[in-house]
Amino acid sequence: MLAHEMMNVLSPDVSIAESVAGILAQPNDVFDRAELAASLELMARRAGHLMKFVERYRAMLDMLEAIPTPVRMTEVAADLVRIVQARAPLPVFQIHVDPLDLVARIDRELMEQALINLLKNAVEAVAAIPDPRVELSIRSRDGATLIEVADNGPGLPVDPDTLFLPFYTTKPDGSGIGLAVARQIAHAHGGVLAARSGALGARFTLSLPNGGVSAEDTTPNAGYGRVPLEPAHKRLKIRTRPPSLEAWRPSRLKGAAGRRLAWIGTCP
Ligand SMILES: Nc1ncnc2c1ncn2[C@@H]1O[C@H](COP(=O)(O)OP(=O)(O)OP(=O)(O)O)[C@@H](O)[C@H]1O
Ligand SMILES: [Mg+2]
Repeated sequence: MLAHEMMNVLSPDVSIAESVAGILAQPNDVFDRAELAASLELMARRAGHLMKFVERYRAMLDMLEAIPTPVRMTEVAADLVRIVQARAPLPVFQIHVDPLDLVARIDRELMEQALINLLKNAVEAVAAIPDPRVELSIRSRDGATLIEVADNGPGLPVDPDTLFLPFYTTKPDGSGIGLAVARQIAHAHGGVLAARSGALGARFTLSLPNGGVSAEDTTPNAGYGRVPLEPAHKRLKIRTRPPSLEAWRPSRLKGAAGRRLAWIGTCP
């Protein structure tokens, strides 16, 4: 792919350079300066594009090595709420962590980056929807960890295989790299990232195999968490059951998010 993109840029640039050189080599000085300047500018612009492409490609490959450690997934979810909220207010944002004390072996930084990419896409997909909803669910199933990001936007524009190609984008300012990076990160964890259009909108599922769950994930009677955000984007409601209350201490969310978050937890 890198070779393909380089050839796309370099071969026309070689032709342009040759014709500019040909014009300048003519014995008489009759040439259109503006035309030559435009040709050279075009070459520079295209070379600049190639440099950016190579940089982004290298950044993508650099991220490949995951160093997993046991991480409480509620903490990841809380981080994501903060990060995504800071970027864009979400009318309705739901998080489910099941069991609430789920601990998975992940490279936290990389995994958060992958999930930010998915959440950012979901937020962008619902931007023009009257009743926008985005959901993040992190579940433990038969020893695997399933992380899903779903939205009620328009659904996938193309087949999933095309969607994950680096630099595929339908957005005017998109770079088309978010999903490719997210998939690389899933692979670096020995997992997979799949996409499908659901009944409503798009659904991305990142599955981490057995290694995704650490030995610490043995707490019986674990709870179920739910964090719907009110339309005002200001209040965070949490409903949970013991022993999971601890994981969602409101003071922690309040302090770090720097927003007015309210604790409405219940302990049946
Ligand atoms: N939740 C979604 N709903 C609908 N289409 C989506 C969704 N997520 C991704 N897509 C489609 O997949 C394309 C590629 O997504 P990707 O995140 O790789 O790049 P991008 O969002 O266009 O740009 P960026 O690199 O800045 O994230 C998007 O342009 C969009 O067409
Ligand atoms: Mg994106």
